[in-house]
Amino acid sequence: MTLETVTPATQSDLIDPFGRHITYVRVSVTDRCDFRCVYCMAEDMTFLPKRDLLTLEELDRLCSAFVARGVRKLRITGGEPLVRKNIMWLFRALSRHLGSGALKELTLTTNGSQLSRFAEELSDCGVRRVNISLDTLDPDKFKAITRWGDYDKVMAGIDAAQDAGLHVKINAVALKGVNEHEYDEMIRWAHGRGMDLTLIETMPLGEIDGDRTDQYLPLSIVRARLLDDWTLTDIPYKTGGPARYVEVAETGGRIGFITPMTHNFCESCNRVRVTCTGTLYMCLGQEDAADLRAPLRASESDEPLQRAIDEAIERKPKGHDFVIDRRTHTPAVSRHMSVTGG
Ligand code: GTP
Ligand code: 5AD
Ligand code: SF4
Repeated sequence: MTLETVTPATQSDLIDPFGRHITYVRVSVTDRCDFRCVYCMAEDMTFLPKRDLLTLEELDRLCSAFVARGVRKLRITGGEPLVRKNIMWLFRALSRHLGSGALKELTLTTNGSQLSRFAEELSDCGVRRVNISLDTLDPDKFKAITRWGDYDKVMAGIDAAQDAGLHVKINAVALKGVNEHEYDEMIRWAHGRGMDLTLIETMPLGEIDGDRTDQYLPLSIVRARLLDDWTLTDIPYKTGGPARYVEVAETGGRIGFITPMTHNFCESCNRVRVTCTGTLYMCLGQEDAADLRAPLRASESDEPLQRAIDEAIERKPKGHDFVIDRRTHTPAVSRHMSVTGG
């Protein structure tokens, strides 16, 4: 496997009170999803009325306003971003910033269900990498985790992405008693296909049907277990996201660890999130937010919007206060991951 690094830019005009440069914006284009992952959503979800959503044109304007300030990486998320009607229009529109060199990376996080339809076109729009969420290689478990997901469709989506020349990273949420004995197989499978694998600690976001304490598996434990079978070496590979990577000597592939619970990476946070209604969240793990839809709609000039962005970045908190334990029954933040898109 090649060890090419996606060099993340470190400078922008948007600097928070802790001196962190905001170079990465994650944009959720819909809160809807065709799956109902147990750690993400309740089965019976109420979604936003369509009229509250930003139009694709407004999303383009909003993203472009961030690019104008030095944001170098845009990640389109959801819900499931590819279920938003006409979403390819947005990718096509945003690809002009890749063409101009202002944007270094346009990418998405997806559950893979629609990739058979869209992989070619995404590649054509300048997307080079996709992150695909897949927590298990066992079709029955997959059904149990995603409730509504179609395993074969996701596998076909992964094939389509690779056939289109996209680099694929597989994201798996570490779930105690669910997929914890599968990581060896997932490493062999992902690395055998030239894909990175990233493991993620489950975070207390939004009410779900079950108990999160039962699902939570610290990655410090997983890493220690992996050492029984694999030779892991820390490497400085960076993608601009929070994962810390190791290289696996036996496969030559990479494993990323995203550890919001056991090892806080907030001190190097370079990102903010915008929801499909134009709400800017300065931190995934805090409630404070700024409305960008009103200033966006107030004027054809971007001035009020830019002012609102500046005011919000001035309030970016130092980090989150996630805790998962038996005494804490309410989630750290009430909104689901599908609202802020991870
Ligand atoms: P790369 O570009 O591949 O580095 O992607 P990424 O890790 O930034 O994005 P991805 O959508 O694959 O996110 C993987 C997981 O990391 C998701 O569950 C996110 O919620 C989580 N994550 C990303 N940024 C943050 C963050 O600032 N704080 C926390 N707590 N989790 C984050
Ligand atoms: N904790 C951690 N990761 C989560 N994801 C969704 N909900 C949670 C949660 N509560 C993951 C998805 C996807 C990414 C965007 O976030 O599996 O990979
Ligand atoms: Fe949908 Fe992703 Fe949430 Fe699963 S984790 S329900 S795929 S938004």
